[in-house]
Amino acid sequence: MFAPEGVDLEHPNVARVYDYYLGGKANYAVDRVFGEKALERYPFVAAAAKANRLFLHRVVRYLSKQGIRQFIDIGSGVPTMGSTHQVADEIVDDASVVYVDNEPVAVAHSRILLEQEDVTDQHTVLHADLREPDRLWKQIEESGVIDIEQPVALLLLAVLHVTQPGHDGTDIGPQSVARFRELLPQGSYLVITHGTADDVPDSRKQEMADFGKMYDKSATPVIWRPQAEIEELFGDYELVDPGCTWTPLWHPEESGENAPVVEFDSPNDSVVWAGVARKP
Ligand SMILES: C[S@@+](CC[C@H](N)C(=O)[O-])C[C@H]1O[C@@H](n2cnc3c(N)ncnc32)[C@H](O)[C@@H]1O
Repeated sequence: MFAPEGVDLEHPNVARVYDYYLGGKANYAVDRVFGEKALERYPFVAAAAKANRLFLHRVVRYLSKQGIRQFIDIGSGVPTMGSTHQVADEIVDDASVVYVDNEPVAVAHSRILLEQEDVTDQHTVLHADLREPDRLWKQIEESGVIDIEQPVALLLLAVLHVTQPGHDGTDIGPQSVARFRELLPQGSYLVITHGTADDVPDSRKQEMADFGKMYDKSATPVIWRPQAEIEELFGDYELVDPGCTWTPLWHPEESGENAPVVEFDSPNDSVVWAGVARKP
């Protein structure tokens, strides 16, 4: 596979390893070695990743039906297993999506997909970073794809458990989300999924800790937050029913007709906590 400029081929990267878990091809040997080892030790991870992606599909369908036409998908990753614009375009014909990622391979693949589908007038991709919310907001405005005065859905799926070091090394993910909450216009939605080891089956607790440790030596370490901390990321926004829950439990009726079925012994085996909230 070609390597876009700036890509780190020495260390596994969360975007490409996640693509590997989903069965995608946008990954390098270093990512596959890591991914194979992770799935061999923790096979539940593949199902958890798929369930997270299927949550994305359902939430985009749900919000499109609520009248949302603008989506900002931050940490959008490699377009594997159905992307935001493809799902929205199934429901409405006037949706716009801005994809944002800081990993060059994810950005290149998203760009190629939009070009192949000839939809670059409606959707776009930014190579940018969520840790600079004001700068990113300006870039989104300048893209011309989205009217930032009108409600948008801001998607932060499986990205905030990737550590977001600021200048002093501390995780500034929550700080960035707080700024996005201020920037979003009234009537917008904030959508978050995040890995957690809270309330998971006993056998999973240690596995989650060990799985997380595997990323310490990658380019992108991870952190599993307690559910309460994930819920705090919504600030004073109003949670949409059923509130925060395990990914498979959030509006299952929004599953597409041909959606793959991912089986769990119990919903907490999906290890990803999810919620959607509206800015009042
Ligand atoms: C596990 S993937 C999730 C992909 C997709 N959101 C999903 O849930 O299917 C996390 C993505 O977040 C991206 N990412 C991590 N930190 C980021 C940052 N500071 N700014 C933008 N993207 C980031 C990674 O490159 C990766 O593509």
